[in-house]
This record gives sequence, C-alpha cells and structure tokens, in this order.
Amino acid sequence: MIQITGLCRRYGGRYVLKNIDLKIKAGSFVAIVGANGSGKSTLAAHLNALLKPEEGSVIVDGMDTRDADRLFDIRERVGMVMQNPDHQAVASIVEDDTAFAPENLGFDETETQSRVDRALDAVGITHLRQRPISTLSGGQKQLAAIAGIFAMCPQYMICDESTSMLDPTSRRRVLSCVKQLNKNLGLTVIWITHYMDEAAQADRVIVLDNGRIAADDTPSQVFNNSELLDRCALELPPCAALAAELKKEGININALPLTAEECANMIATLTEAAQ
Ligand SMILES: Nc1ncnc2c1ncn2[C@@H]1O[C@H](COP(=O)(O)OP(=O)(O)OP(=O)(O)O)[C@@H](O)[C@H]1O
Ligand SMILES: [Mg+2]
Repeated sequence: MIQITGLCRRYGGRYVLKNIDLKIKAGSFVAIVGANGSGKSTLAAHLNALLKPEEGSVIVDGMDTRDADRLFDIRERVGMVMQNPDHQAVASIVEDDTAFAPENLGFDETETQSRVDRALDAVGITHLRQRPISTLSGGQKQLAAIAGIFAMCPQYMICDESTSMLDPTSRRRVLSCVKQLNKNLGLTVIWITHYMDEAAQADRVIVLDNGRIAADDTPSQVFNNSELLDRCALELPPCAALAAELKKEGININALPLTAEECANMIATLTEAAQ
C-alpha cells in the first residue's frame, strides 16, 4: 500500500498540493484526473520519491520516501511511465532497453533474460525485441517503455499521461495492455489522464482541484456528479456525454453510461421501453 498523509508542497510560496490524504491499495487501478496545473504530476513525483514531502509523509509498503536509505528500494517498487515515448529509451534495441533495469539492479544474466522475456511477453511485443527503438511507432515505443518498467518487477506503476501523444488505436492498445498487467499480474496502476473515457475504466477516480482532493470515488459516482465536473473543469466520457444530451431532451435516464457496453445496454432498454 502507498499511504499519503497530510502531504503539502509549495512552489514560490503557493501551495500546489495541500493536505493530501490518500491510500492506494496494492492491486488497484486508480485514475487521477484534474485540470492543467491541478497537481497530478507533482503528486506522482512524490510517489516514487522524485520529490520529498515538505510537510506530511508518503509511505510505500512501509518505507518512508524521506528515508534516503530506502530510495533505491522505493524507486524499484514504483515505476514511472512518462508522456513522451521518445524520451524514455535508454538503449537503442528493444530487448537491451528492457534489460537495462534488471541489469542495473544487479541481477545475473539468467535472471535478467528471464525478466526481459516475461516483460516483453506480458506487454505483447516479443516480436519487436530486436528492433531499433527509433524504428518503432509512438504506441510501440510506449509499450517498450512499459516493458522496461515491468522488467523491474515493480508493485506500482505510475503512467503520467502516457497515452496523450498517441493516436486513438495506440491509446486503446496501451491502456488495454496496462489493464491486463493489473488484472492478470497484480500490478498496481496509477493512471494520470485528461481522457475521461480512460478514467472511467479505473476502479477508482481521484479528482484533483488546485492541489486538493475534490473527489475520490468510483467512476460512476464521479461522472454522475455534474456540479463536481463543472467545478473541476472536467468533461464527461463520450458515452456519458451522449446520454447527458438525451437526458436534456427529456429522455428518462438515471445513471449515465460510462462505457460503450453500458451505452448499448441503455439504448436497448430505451428502445424496448418505447415499443
Ligand atoms: N518545478 C516547478 N517550479 C515551480 N512551479 C512548479 C514546478 N512544478 C510544478 N509547478 C507548478 O505546480 C502546479 C502543479 O503542476 P503539475 O505539473 O503537478 O500539474 P498537473 O496537474 O500535472 O498539470 P498538467 O495536466 O498540465 O500536466 C502548477 O501550477 C505548476 O506550474
Ligand atoms: Mg502533469
């Protein structure tokens, strides 16, 4: 578990994180959303000790991020995938890049090889292992970055807008890969995004507003709270937006559908009721 208590951070005297209390359970899939500048990346940087709390504490599986002796263990446990697929590779060939973390953690060749094989397989890019990273598409580069992190065998993976530079197909592919790592292999995912359809797929959505937690709830609760969404400048996921438009036209809809499947069910129910 990651336990954040009373976390505050200031830049130039202004609080950009204020009294954050959060528990992130191992195995969960948590989305963090919020307007530009609301503090998402600053919060993420505290989770793997890139930033130390000015006030409050961040405890990762019992290790305090202010404890310099545990820095290495914390960074091994909490991996970070960034936004730009071009800024993450450390080697020129995919499998060498995946091997970088286990090699640096001091594992022998057999263990390194087995971690590389497992990570490339889990991410579904074994067929790309000998390709120069420079020849990959943006989506493939993000998958290679995820494999590189996964080869560390982290318990937590933070993805900070990791799909924002990708086309819709690659975006779906990268999210679906990370969801599988979560569901099948128990990786805890902290998914920072401006895409509400992505946040709607998480177990839990944390909304940041000016450095404070404005909501911490299920996707359904968050996206059915129009006052919260307006206040925090958030949009609805596309399926919910469609339903909200129908609702405005007087069609009887209770909870907004968040996924294509829920939307299809809603339309089927409405069609049946109209017959
Ligand atoms: N190194 C820094 N020096 C000064 N101010 C900073 C620094 N890093 C972040 N900030 C400020 O802290 C606030 C929160 O920034 P942060 O990058 O965490 O927001 P964010 O929610 O990730 O935004 P975005 O959606 O644009 O990525 C912003 O007002 C930002 O300008
Ligand atoms: Mg950010």
